[in-house]
Amino acid sequence: MRTVTVGVLGSGTVGQDVLNLIKRRESVFTDLGVRIEIVGVLVRDVNKERNVPEGTRVTTDPSFLQECGVVIEAMGGVDRPLEMLLPYLRSGRPVITANKALLAERWDVLREYALAGSLYYEASVMAGTPVIGPMSTVLRASTFTRLQAVLNGTCLYILTQMEGGKSYADALAEAQALGYAETPPTLDVGGFDTAHKLAVLARFCADGNFPYSAVQVRGIEDVNQQDIADARAAGEQIKLVAELERDGDGWKATVAPQRLPENHPLCTAGSGRNALVYEGEECGTLIFAGGGAGGMITASAMVGDLLDWVIGFPGHVPLH
Ligand code: NAP
Ligand code: HSE
Repeated sequence: MRTVTVGVLGSGTVGQDVLNLIKRRESVFTDLGVRIEIVGVLVRDVNKERNVPEGTRVTTDPSFLQECGVVIEAMGGVDRPLEMLLPYLRSGRPVITANKALLAERWDVLREYALAGSLYYEASVMAGTPVIGPMSTVLRASTFTRLQAVLNGTCLYILTQMEGGKSYADALAEAQALGYAETPPTLDVGGFDTAHKLAVLARFCADGNFPYSAVQVRGIEDVNQQDIADARAAGEQIKLVAELERDGDGWKATVAPQRLPENHPLCTAGSGRNALVYEGEECGTLIFAGGGAGGMITASAMVGDLLDWVIGFPGHVPLH
């Protein structure tokens, strides 16, 4: 049996469930001849109560990272995780992350490691609903034309609750309590989290160097009950929509609230489900839908990435 040493950065909504899922799915690793050893879990406050497997070493001291064969990052932010992950990436070790802000905003540094196959980030877009996997593999053979997507669970939750008569503030507080929202939630409601995710996706289908700054962003802060009622009366729903399509020789990437007909695939995906409509000349129109936020569903993609690495699959390689 081979031992793989894993270090985890963060033990919040996502990190805790990564630890619990690795434990729960121990036998899948055993079947591959591997024993996972969690050498440490980095947090800010060791006194916080946590739902993690017994004996987990939770610490504020990152020195355990030196012993790790693989690092799983679930702490969020941009500068701090980058500073911690770079030495591992430089030494050729794999990093698994759900951090779309980091990927979107520091691609200047991270791209070379993604091209080398050392970065695994299925969880960064639509959590455990796989879109990065197909877009980084089989879909490359098709000529991409357009995508339209609902990529933020917090905004989806708020807009759905507002349709039922709840206030924006109450719905946002509920989304935070459910563990969907970013810190701060302006990242969600301002449209920036969706823009981060759109930039990550654009690098698989439009331009491997697609800059986050090229996404035009408008959030849902100005959507009110009257807007929602007006849409409803016209047989429509308001969603925060990410769109990417050809624009002359380049690409147009936007994030904005849109009124969509109730029978649009982004509306019929099901309650609380993120959705993505992918159009390619040869593959036709594909629809991906499923949960896009929450601890265990995000952990399922991160532990899936760990399994991919154990099996020997490369990380998610963007367009060259
Ligand atoms: P969270 O609940 O706020 O957890 C963050 C964890 O990181 C906490 O354990 C925190 O420690 C630790 N941490 C933060 N900054 C730290 C620092 N400077 N030093 C040491 N520890 C630090 O966040 P989350 O919801 O799990 O999200 C984590 C990441 O996953 C983010 O990048 C997010 O965008 C991404 N993501 C989240 C979801 C979701 O549904 N929540 C889905 C997909 C992707 P303490 O516990 O001590 O405060
Ligand atoms: N804050 C994000 C959302 C978490 O609400 O979709 C999942 O990426």
